[in-house]
Amino acid sequence: MRPDSPAPDEPDEPAAEHYFSARPASPEQRRPLAVRLAGREVEVEVAAGVFSPGRIDLGTQVLLRTVPPPPADGELLDLGTGWGPVALTMAMLSPGARVWAVDVNARALDLVTRNAARLGLDNVVAVTPDEVPADVVLDALWSNPPIRVGKGALHTMLVRWLPRLRAGADAHLVVQRNLGADSLQRWMADEQGWLCERAASAKGFRVLRVTPAA
Ligand SMILES: C[S@@+](CC[C@H](N)C(=O)[O-])C[C@H]1O[C@@H](n2cnc3c(N)ncnc32)[C@H](O)[C@@H]1O
Repeated sequence: MRPDSPAPDEPDEPAAEHYFSARPASPEQRRPLAVRLAGREVEVEVAAGVFSPGRIDLGTQVLLRTVPPPPADGELLDLGTGWGPVALTMAMLSPGARVWAVDVNARALDLVTRNAARLGLDNVVAVTPDEVPADVVLDALWSNPPIRVGKGALHTMLVRWLPRLRAGADAHLVVQRNLGADSLQRWMADEQGWLCERAASAKGFRVLRVTPAA
């Protein structure tokens, strides 16, 4: 770990507040951030109280470099969107698709909505998990999931969302090797019976491709 870099799944803020707080109590301190998304130099807004506000997280970068282009249309989902690097990338690459940017953190949802508007994207819907309509069937799911919520909560999230993929559609998840990527892969394959393979391994992260239903 570089000394100037927070742990990839760590908040850039005091431990008292998690990046997955529903309503962060810290001052928001919104600020611009120049980033490269989907091959374009863009400016987004970030804020304290959301995940990785200083840069695109290294794991997220590995994910975005690895995933194949998303389907051109249909329903795409970014599980745990933060300020939106994954959802915004999907929306830029697939303007004909609808992108569900899902998070429990209200500040994150506000940011991703603002960022989509800033980038002229009208195909991003930023919502809490319960606000995704039950009849939405997913054509792709990308996620840098919140490992730090704990194994039980993480498993519950995955069991809730991955079976919502259309038959044959897949999910791409990036997980730090030191934070249990390999045991998560075994759990998905052995206990859930999902097809799960390592699509990439770079910079201490694994990208797992998961196909829950054949
Ligand atoms: C590791 S961060 C990734 C954020 C963003 N996708 C990125 O790459 O910068 C995980 C995100 O999952 C969110 N999260 C935590 N629990 C969640 C849940 N039950 N459902 C959806 N998102 C959740 C957190 O608030 C956080 O924004």
